[in-house]
Amino acid sequence: MDLDFHGKTALITGASMGIGRAAALNFARHGADVVLLDVDLRGLQQVEDQLRTYGVRAAAYECDISKEDRVNEVCTDAIETFGSVDIAVNNAGLWRGFCEFSQSSSAQWRQKIDVNMLGTMYITRAVLSSMIAQNYGRIINVASVSGVYGIGTMADYSMTKGAVIGFTKALAKEVMKNGITVNCVSPGTVSDAGHPCDKCYAGRFGTYEENADLILFLASRQAGYISGQNYIIDGCRKWL
Ligand SMILES: NC(=O)c1ccc[n+]([C@@H]2O[C@H](COP(=O)([O-])OP(=O)(O)OC[C@H]3O[C@@H](n4cnc5c(N)ncnc54)[C@H](O)[C@@H]3O)[C@@H](O)[C@H]2O)c1
Repeated sequence: MDLDFHGKTALITGASMGIGRAAALNFARHGADVVLLDVDLRGLQQVEDQLRTYGVRAAAYECDISKEDRVNEVCTDAIETFGSVDIAVNNAGLWRGFCEFSQSSSAQWRQKIDVNMLGTMYITRAVLSSMIAQNYGRIINVASVSGVYGIGTMADYSMTKGAVIGFTKALAKEVMKNGITVNCVSPGTVSDAGHPCDKCYAGRFGTYEENADLILFLASRQAGYISGQNYIIDGCRKWL
């Protein structure tokens, strides 16, 4: 199967590192123009330089996705500049930091809700009208196994990722008629080099590239009959 993204524009949040960066490079390698969003502009600019070596167009926007006005401004500009945003990957998320729920603060919950839930919603709504108008779109939300099974010491985070999965399933039902698919990718434990890991039967962490490949397939034309699904990518996790 030849996944070809020439003529398509992919917008990726949290693209300066990790899964988002790997996804951006993967889209460029397959011919897509790429719009990069992150709070870390310097990191983004390095990714942007790498993307250009694939001969695609790229743009980096400093954007905190929890700021609704800024998200609307950036998405409007990207759609004008590139002609369309055909693919949106809601990848940016706050997950670092582990804490018993009884010890956690409501300020920590709000940060995660603002970025993981509201940020995903702001970006999605900001690109959705143009996808509906062109009768084509692919939305991929990066959730987590925590949103399916729950992870102790990550209760607030687990809640936000469960919400992202519910949002995905509901929105998919609204927009399938418009040629738009909405799916989730739920990673287990991911690192850059697939280091040893005893949490799953694979015996190692997943890699950013493995997650990026799943995202790429769900974003492809070939995946047009798949929507409203959550794909767990966790090396067959042992305990939850
Ligand atoms: N790494 C894992 O083990 C793992 C496991 C399950 C799910 N996930 C999910 O996958 C996604 C990516 O994970 P990762 O490990 O690559 O993350 P990461 O922390 O390495 O990178 C996240 C990126 O998002 C950016 N970001 C953070 N807040 C932002 C905001 N408000 N606006 C814009 N950008 C912002 C960061 O600057 C960073 O570049 C996240 O949604 C995370 O919850 C990761």
